[in-house]
Order: sequence, then C-alpha cells, then structure tokens
Amino acid sequence: MVKTVRLEPIAQETSIETNGNLLSVLISKDLDVLRECGGRGMCATCHVYVKGGMDSLSPINRREQRTLEVITSCQPNSRLACQARVLANGVIVELPPGMYINSIKDIEALIGRRAEQNLLHPVTGEVLVEEDKLITRSTLKQLENSTNNFNFVSFFSNSSDV
Ligand code: FES
Repeated sequence: MVKTVRLEPIAQETSIETNGNLLSVLISKDLDVLRECGGRGMCATCHVYVKGGMDSLSPINRREQRTLEVITSCQPNSRLACQARVLANGVIVELPPGMYINSIKDIEALIGRRAEQNLLHPVTGEVLVEEDKLITRSTLKQLENSTNNFNFVSFFSNSSDV
C-alpha cells in the first residue's frame, strides 16, 4: 500500500510505501537534506514541521524527542523526517526555509522575489534573509555557504544522546 504526502510551501505531492519515513519523501523530491547523522535521529538536519496529519505518523521516539529539544526552531509540530514513518494518508509537511532554499532547483524559483517571512537557518534559527528583502543569486550563495560552514558536530555535542 502507498500513502500520499504533501510538501509545502513547494506544493508537491508524492507517494510513499506505508511505513516509509519522511526522509525518503524529501530525497525523492531532490531536496538537499544534509542528513549529517545518516538518518539516526541525532543531528536534526532533517527537521520538518507537520502542518497536517500528525496522527498519520509514527509516534515520536525518545531519541527524536531529545534531539528536537536541542534545536531553537523546534515547535509542537516538529518532527525529524528520518524518524517519522508514514502510517496513513493526510500528512502535510512544511519544509523549514533552510531546507528548500538549499535545493538548487528551488533557489532558482526564489530569485527576484522578496522573502515573505524571515528565512531562518534550519538548525540555529539564525536569520539568513530578513522579511521583505529581495532574494538575489548572490544572497542565495551566501545562504549555501552559511549552511555548509555550520559545525553540526559541535552544536550537538552537548546532547547527552549523541
Ligand atoms: S538525518 Fe540526522 S536526525 Fe534525521
């Protein structure tokens, strides 16, 4: 059986085998998910927000909970895509800005537009582009560098579960 998952704000739908994890959905859409820990629930580079269908996902496990507690951009609807398995239809995932602006394809789509909201680093919450500022090709290059230079190992070294 397959289940359908919708990705926002890029407005794409995709199918996944029942019990598959959200990370495989993101990868199938060519999103540039860093997967620093290799999908073990310890780095939060696959952090997403669930806008709908939280009940259609597997429950949060202890490791996922502990990792989410460390990140500044965590909200009640936060999940780690590598840990959240899709059990039923109706899941709507909201990608943090840092995730979809990392995707080269989506970078192209945002050039020349003004940021509708502050674009935040997916882990630190640092403001990369302020709301209403124009997104240019050079802006996006800076975002890429900012994300690539981020030292995930040291940021998460305080987590007792690592
Ligand atoms: S890939 Fe590291 S927590 Fe999901």
